[in-house]
Amino acid sequence: MTTETQLATTPEVGGMGHSVKRKEDPRFIRGAGKYIDDLVLPGMLWMDIVRSPYAHATIKGIDTSAALKVPGVLAVIVGADLEKAGLHWMPTLAGDKQMVLPTRTVMYQAQEVAAVVATSRYAAADGVAAVEVDYAPLPVVVDPMKALEKDAPILRPDRAADKQTNRIWHWESGDRAAADAALKDAEVTVSEDIYIPRIHVASIETCGCIADWDAVRGQMTLHMTSQAPHAIRTVLALVSGLPEQNIRVKTYDIGGGFGGKVPVYPGYVLAVVASLTVGKPVKWIEDRSENLQADSFARDYHIHAELGATKAGKITGLKVRTIADHGYSDAAADPTKFPAGLFNVITGSYDFDSAFVEVDGVYTNKPPGGVAYRCSFRVTEAVHAIERMVDILAHEIGKDPAQLRLDNFIQPGQFPYKSPTGWEYDSGNYPAALKMAMELIDYAGLRKEQLEKRARGELMGIGISSFTEIVGAGPSHEFDILGLKMFDSCEIRVHPTGKVLARIGVQTQGQGHETTFAQIIAEELGFPVGDIKIEYGDTDTAPYGLGTYASRSTPVAGAATAIAARKIRDKARKLAAHLLEANEDDLEWTNGKFSVKGSPDRFKTIQEIAFAAYTNHPQGMEAGLEAVDYYDPPNLTFPFGSYIAVVDIDKGTGQVKVRRFVAVDDCGNIINPMIVDGQIHGGLTMGLAPSLYEEITYDENGNNLAGTFMDYLLPTAVETPAWEVAKTTTPSPHHPLGAKGVGESATVGSPPAIANAVVDALWHLGVRNIDIPISPHKVWKILHDKGIS
Ligand code: CDP
Repeated sequence: MTTETQLATTPEVGGMGHSVKRKEDPRFIRGAGKYIDDLVLPGMLWMDIVRSPYAHATIKGIDTSAALKVPGVLAVIVGADLEKAGLHWMPTLAGDKQMVLPTRTVMYQAQEVAAVVATSRYAAADGVAAVEVDYAPLPVVVDPMKALEKDAPILRPDRAADKQTNRIWHWESGDRAAADAALKDAEVTVSEDIYIPRIHVASIETCGCIADWDAVRGQMTLHMTSQAPHAIRTVLALVSGLPEQNIRVKTYDIGGGFGGKVPVYPGYVLAVVASLTVGKPVKWIEDRSENLQADSFARDYHIHAELGATKAGKITGLKVRTIADHGYSDAAADPTKFPAGLFNVITGSYDFDSAFVEVDGVYTNKPPGGVAYRCSFRVTEAVHAIERMVDILAHEIGKDPAQLRLDNFIQPGQFPYKSPTGWEYDSGNYPAALKMAMELIDYAGLRKEQLEKRARGELMGIGISSFTEIVGAGPSHEFDILGLKMFDSCEIRVHPTGKVLARIGVQTQGQGHETTFAQIIAEELGFPVGDIKIEYGDTDTAPYGLGTYASRSTPVAGAATAIAARKIRDKARKLAAHLLEANEDDLEWTNGKFSVKGSPDRFKTIQEIAFAAYTNHPQGMEAGLEAVDYYDPPNLTFPFGSYIAVVDIDKGTGQVKVRRFVAVDDCGNIINPMIVDGQIHGGLTMGLAPSLYEEITYDENGNNLAGTFMDYLLPTAVETPAWEVAKTTTPSPHHPLGAKGVGESATVGSPPAIANAVVDALWHLGVRNIDIPISPHKVWKILHDKGIS
């Protein structure tokens, strides 16, 4: 079900709103995609990494002599080698620093300790096995709460804010006094501890690169899997001292990024150092366990939330305290001014005046990170917390959770809406989305069924999540990463024969940008989508941009593409006026052509105009038809949706089965409905994953207990329900196309719907909260303790 949209272009042109088949798919379904590990360069060497078995230890010595004797091994790089060049530490995107290789201490299990360069992948692995490292284990800090205790070992004496604790930073937003007063005066308050577990991006393709140093030309080419190639180039220039024009970062097809391919990992830097050292291309591809154990994590938020309301269920205030476990270094990819990301969007879809949020970042002996895993900088955590709290409130006061939401929603007439933590929501119609979801799933019928089943002792739950997302980072007055402002870009060149090449500053990792960005140009200029080629991911050719993560492509680069196309249309108008010997003001633009007002048969098509731009342009006008735009968004976009999950719980095993899931999304005007549905299907599955399966845990010695796919569970097609999706359309008032981002809405919005459904099934047994992932064991234990299972 989709709200009817008027299409301005024909299916042949394929502008906005057409479900154009993905231009990139023929190469993928024929096995002709090109990924980093497909690339083999002449003379290329391989690199493999020695990793620490300890979570915290002093390195007493590293003996590389046996490794150097392994046939094919050419070099072993250790921390002391890097220290000489000042390269043993590197900056993180969050302004902290992270070891490339340790010189004295390892800080988490699987940390890089040495790199072996060899003539084959196998020789490199044999070399790794032959490196002997003498470790002296140190006390391990696993629990972030314990990390804040007085006697905890200080993990980063160089960084700890007051040198006495492992606190990295304290961040707060909103009005503490107002929130305190609202909670004090509230007729009802509910409070809960909610843990959003540490999870990991498990994209099909792991990370990797080939560093190729050409000493003669002084050129470094870094072929890699990066969601943000330009940022990588600049960071590499600043860290290595190589001139930026001599650094080229090139990406290929990327098998999933989801935030995990934004950071700079030590492996990349080591490959660069190795190539500089041996003067040959060096390839590094991490394996699955390295990816799960050492790359940047996501989430790991310990939240305590308090919600105040009237007895009738009108929300009056919210207070949230959070401990954020960042591992041994803060390597989050958050914008600089937002150490806890956009977590303060936690007031969600609800209209109330008083809110206060505080977050403390903490060091522990775990891998660094805090990536925005298919999420706009901690919004998943925020949405989970508020949607769980609203549900708890509803159950506590005995009000239907749907009605409680409808009674508290920001109403359509209140937009632009200023939230109590300072965001200005651009547009929304929350009641419409929830009502549509309720109708599609037959909410009233389900509640009846639930009562009947409960009477029979069966466990069935219905869970709602009415989320507000915040995407499109971001306006340059507030948003930067390491000082780089978060604009994005598009450059369009129209060739004489009316074919188009456009290059964008963002980087697709499966989202279908080659199709949707062509559709934006088709919409604006009338060239058929098949005549438009989209390129990205080569810093020598693409205009500078901050890359793709946090659903920013459409809100930022999509806008840049529309504006660049409009600049071309402005010039096309001048050319048409010249060709038609008419005044510019007397021309009108429809369906890819300029015609003279009142004389529709006097027109020039965009293709004719393109040819004239090179063959018959007026004297004094520059030849050519091209434009570039760097777009600085005036605000973020605020997509939203209402999701309803229905679960059945097996009393014998505790197994939760998601029987139905209806997702109503609103991402403003849609460029490609089929791609948007694909994004939502994938996003919902990535929301199901942490709800029921995914979690990285550690034992008390800091051993990672989920470092393989045997232990880190992902849902397969068998566990994934048939998603039922629908849309409402509330355009963004400030985006040139009225579009909002959508890529991560479903991942952000779905976990609380599932968690709420499970708690809804068990509330009558006295269950208030179950932290995700809701494993059969957790549920079985509850049922067993209550004598039900
Ligand atoms: O930054 P990322 O590409 O991951 O996220 P996005 O901007 O939300 O876009 C994901 C995909 O959905 C892209 O191919 C977009 O062009 C497409 N999309 C769309 O067709 N219409 C929208 N309103 C938003 C996104």
